[in-house]
Amino acid sequence: MSQKQINIAIDGYSSCGKSTVAKLLAKRVGYIYIDSGAMYRAITYFALQRGIIKDKSIYKPSLLKALPSLHIRFKNNEKGQVQTYLNGENIEKEIRTMHVSAHVSQVSAIKEVREKLVALQQDMGKEKGVVMDGRDIGTTVFPDAEIKFFLVSDLDLRVERRRAELQAKGIQVTSKEVEDNLRKRDYIDSNREESPLTKAKDAIEIDNSEVSLEVLVEQLHQMICDKVNELCVKC
Ligand code: DC
Repeated sequence: MSQKQINIAIDGYSSCGKSTVAKLLAKRVGYIYIDSGAMYRAITYFALQRGIIKDKSIYKPSLLKALPSLHIRFKNNEKGQVQTYLNGENIEKEIRTMHVSAHVSQVSAIKEVREKLVALQQDMGKEKGVVMDGRDIGTTVFPDAEIKFFLVSDLDLRVERRRAELQAKGIQVTSKEVEDNLRKRDYIDSNREESPLTKAKDAIEIDNSEVSLEVLVEQLHQMICDKVNELCVKC
């Protein structure tokens, strides 16, 4: 797509397939894919490593003190897969564990954490040409994104999808553990004070429970092309 560049926001609950769809769409249109959840996971991983989270409590003053020294970057590996780096260290594998998943919603409810990451995400999208997935992309990070999708999916499917993903990484978990984690995260993410997960008024809701990944990506790609063409007619 060599025409006008836009930003594409993809939001939704945990494990609705956002990142899979976002990555494929970004590849298709030649845009940069940004996984905003990985950034919240990176800060959570740091807090766990440093003992800032203990017995399910976060010692907020220590986290706030450390925040300015945390530098999060994305780089592709030799296979072209996006890897998350924290202060120069590749932590892609570490941030995907259930341990991080169990604490990330608490960390992402902290105002100062969100302020830092939202500013970074907005900076990444200032030149446009970005597909970003998360919880508040269409509402807070890119309220002016030219196209916004809100993905929904059956809970059973989400649980199995996440379990299979973890299993493929050698992490053994039961469906019950995954379901409890998804329910808890959905609840905290939707009820926090700072930019809670909610569908932007102008987002297109997509239920991907019944449709194959190929068909879904094809449909969304078509909507993106239509939007770009519409904007080009006006420009
Ligand atoms: O997309 P994910 O499951 O890797 O995200 C992990 C957590 O990060 C999610 O439970 C809530 C938080 N998050 C957020 O608050 N805002 C975002 N834009 C992205 C993720």
